[in-house]
Amino acid sequence: MKNGKILVVGGAGYIGSHVVMELIKHGWDVVILDNFSTGNIRLVHPDACLVKGTLDDVNLLDQLFAEHKFSAVMHFAAFSQVAESVREPLRYYRNNISGTINLLEAMIRHSILYFIFSSTAAVYGDPECIPILETHPCRPSNPYGRTKLMIEHLLSDCDAAHGFRYMTLRYFNAAGADESGTIGEMHNPETHLIPIVLEAAAGLREHVYLYGTDYSTPDGTCIRDYIHVSDLAGAHLLALKTLLNNGKSNIYNVGNETGYSVKEVIEKAEEIVGKRIPVIETNRRPGDPATLIASSEKIRMELGWTPSYGSLDAMILTAWNWLAQSNRSNNAKSYQKRQA
Ligand code: UFG
Repeated sequence: MKNGKILVVGGAGYIGSHVVMELIKHGWDVVILDNFSTGNIRLVHPDACLVKGTLDDVNLLDQLFAEHKFSAVMHFAAFSQVAESVREPLRYYRNNISGTINLLEAMIRHSILYFIFSSTAAVYGDPECIPILETHPCRPSNPYGRTKLMIEHLLSDCDAAHGFRYMTLRYFNAAGADESGTIGEMHNPETHLIPIVLEAAAGLREHVYLYGTDYSTPDGTCIRDYIHVSDLAGAHLLALKTLLNNGKSNIYNVGNETGYSVKEVIEKAEEIVGKRIPVIETNRRPGDPATLIASSEKIRMELGWTPSYGSLDAMILTAWNWLAQSNRSNNAKSYQKRQA
């Protein structure tokens, strides 16, 4: 049975494509709007309707909303690299904020008032206490986090002024890939730890730079809360269902409440791929907080969210599987043959 239609902005990206897969699996029709600045055609679901375009194109947005009757909009289209945002703040402010304003204005013009927003743990900055609750003060330590926090404020103002209803999901570190191996992380250039570590394991890069070994953590390297992208996608479906049922705006962390240091991630990857991964220790990367670990009690209690792939093993294994399936690595492929 069909549920209705969702506009997924940024549905050709890493997280967006996994949410599209989950939506389609659960009987939703999906229209993807993507400008392919960071998305990839290989990640576009064959059953989704694809519209190539940008959020700058206000006429296109009006056309889309006139043509389709969307139940809700999900917004994944943003620049999301911390270090890049430190180097090029204006590009981040322009893309992330003005694009979202255009989208929200078009939604309000067409009386589409349900919105799911991809926010980030980066809104918290350096946390005062761990695990981080949604009520923790938001003091982002980089422009990327500030752009997301500004949009969170914008959403709350639109709720008050226009009866606009939203669910904001603050992602911790998305990792892994769909179990099918058909979609996964595909950034160019890749900056995220797990795919970089696996590319080094597969011989696609010479080494991994480890950014900073003098953080105030037990082994001196940054600690992050990794969350499987399919569990993240599941959280979106629950958020959508709840929003459409009770129509109340809310904000939820999505993380596993467990932190792994950069060194621990590298060691786990070495264990899984069965080889040493060359590492070069270097300076801290600007804008990186030492430790980010979520409290996800709120989403578990209120939405009934339970992760299915909570272990770091599952995240690294599915990412390794994707690397092999995506034909980028013979080593990953031959490793899998040996495992079979
Ligand atoms: N790291 C390395 N070497 C690398 C890549 C990363 O040492 O080659 C380190 C980083 O310095 C950091 C950790 O690995 O300490 C994780 O880095 P990622 O780039 O994988 O992820 P981030 O924590 O920087 O950021 C991700 C998302 C953000 C989001 C944040 C929330 O990219 O959008 O998680 O926790 F805000």
